[in-house]
Amino acid sequence: MGKKAVDIANLDVTKLIQLLNEALAEEWLAYYQYWIGARLMEGPMRSEIEPELLLHATEELGHAELIVNRIIQLGGTPILNPDKWKQFAKCDYEEPTDPYVKEILNQNLAGERCAIQRYQDLAEYTNGKDHSTYQIVITILNDELEHEHDIEDWLTDLKRLEDDIKKIRI
Ligand SMILES: [Fe+2]
Ligand SMILES: [Fe+2]
Repeated sequence: MGKKAVDIANLDVTKLIQLLNEALAEEWLAYYQYWIGARLMEGPMRSEIEPELLLHATEELGHAELIVNRIIQLGGTPILNPDKWKQFAKCDYEEPTDPYVKEILNQNLAGERCAIQRYQDLAEYTNGKDHSTYQIVITILNDELEHEHDIEDWLTDLKRLEDDIKKIRI
């Protein structure tokens, strides 16, 4: 644990560690949501979207690493048992029972929007008080915003494809 790291954080460190552990749980669930969804996915544009979803998955794992390092630096204990992931996470894990590409993307989109809110809240909590955590949180927030945008673009393209197919039928 970094004693000075704790001293200079001008906020409730115990609460911050709790919030970071919640974010850590969410990142693991987001990682699995992308990772399993990419493999099950069926439908148009699969070959383009699948590698991108796997890239998002890798980035979620990178976020988990940034968070876990900060928790340890602050003298906290990261979640040690995966049983706690669902318990800590405020963002839902949605079981991908329907492999249609649009359903998979919508599940991931809901996860991204929840993550954006999580890091927005963490940014507000740490802004001007704990510069190090703030910087980490902003880095992750920017990635989550990019993820949301990627998914929205694919959904727009899928919608356009569906509309074009409908026109051909008429
Ligand atoms: Fe993430
Ligand atoms: Fe994300």
